[in-house]
Amino acid sequence: MDDQATSLRKLVQGKSEYAAPAPAPNAGGEMAGGRTIPAGNASVVAQPYTAPPIRPLPTFRAPPPPSIPAFQPAFQKEGDARIIAVTSGKGGVGKTNLTVNLAIALGQEGKNVIVIDADLGMANVDVVLGSVSKFHLMHLLKDDISLNDVLIHGPYGVNYISGGSAMERAVEFTPLERRRLMDKLSACGEMADIILIDTGAGIGRNVMDFILAADEVVLVTTPEPTALTDAYAVMKAYSNYASNKNMRLVINRVYDESESADVITKLQRTADRFLKMPLESLGSIYEDRNVMNAVKRQAPLMIAYPDTLAARCVQSIAKTMVYGGQHEVRWGWRGFLQRLLKFK
Ligand SMILES: Nc1ncnc2c1ncn2[C@@H]1O[C@H](COP(=O)(O)OP(=O)(O)OP(=O)(O)O)[C@@H](O)[C@H]1O
Ligand SMILES: [Mg+2]
Repeated sequence: MDDQATSLRKLVQGKSEYAAPAPAPNAGGEMAGGRTIPAGNASVVAQPYTAPPIRPLPTFRAPPPPSIPAFQPAFQKEGDARIIAVTSGKGGVGKTNLTVNLAIALGQEGKNVIVIDADLGMANVDVVLGSVSKFHLMHLLKDDISLNDVLIHGPYGVNYISGGSAMERAVEFTPLERRRLMDKLSACGEMADIILIDTGAGIGRNVMDFILAADEVVLVTTPEPTALTDAYAVMKAYSNYASNKNMRLVINRVYDESESADVITKLQRTADRFLKMPLESLGSIYEDRNVMNAVKRQAPLMIAYPDTLAARCVQSIAKTMVYGGQHEVRWGWRGFLQRLLKFK
């Protein structure tokens, strides 16, 4: 039997003997209705989302977006936000672009979303959004700064909070500082249905703190061998330390469906064999120059190029997140904050 190292080597060399199963056909389904923000939460302005006009699907030259499981209404208790950390092993695989565009796509599905930019070294959610944040999370430690000041109502209905590098100091916070952050941030949990956290790459302490505190983790990788081995390192660290293993995959920059199915199968097989961890796929995103064009225009892909291949894939991933199966909010936002801020 192969040992772990041999299998990994095969994985990155594409020599797995495993035959990828044919992807499941797409399934259609019902869309959820919108939800309003509970009264009394003044900090998220419930502006009606002005969605771009939905253009009819053209005679699309490209293959259909990757398979979406049969849509079922997801179970989610009122008042409990889903906390989803978007992470990767290797840097530059598309986390920030996915997070921002996913926030827009989830908004189009009627969800209230808050994005937390927790990539402490290279925070750039605002660059992709084409917006500017004056304050970040750590400004909340000051008496005169409230959640309203740090929660940016960005363009296209995306609400976001910039993490700021001082979050690295989380372990050094005094009890008073922890309490202050906790009190000021708590309201986010009632304002949002989904809180997306754009983390940095790798298995450093900062990243692990975020992914271990979240209810769900989306692991992004590209099909490149280096990205796959780094993704495996994250899977392994997560599987070692997470008390509630809930990690799902997104393969970015794929050229065709068979490449996507192949990578998903290899990672799933490795996760199953060596980590005994289920690893569902949320879908894949095609290599698409429009992603870069959108960044250059400083307008998110979902807005600048809504009918392109990559945008359709993000839309499909958002639908899978919302309608694909059941979602148990285990810790929610308060639990996330308690774990992150190291409350006992
Ligand atoms: N599907 C895609 N097709 C083509 N280019 C892409 C795609 N996804 C992302 N890119 C490009 O990859 C680059 C990196 O994307 P992004 O900044 O989202 O990655 P990241 O994982 O957040 O990086 P970092 O680890 O530095 O935070 C960007 O220049 C973007 O244009
Ligand atoms: Mg990033």
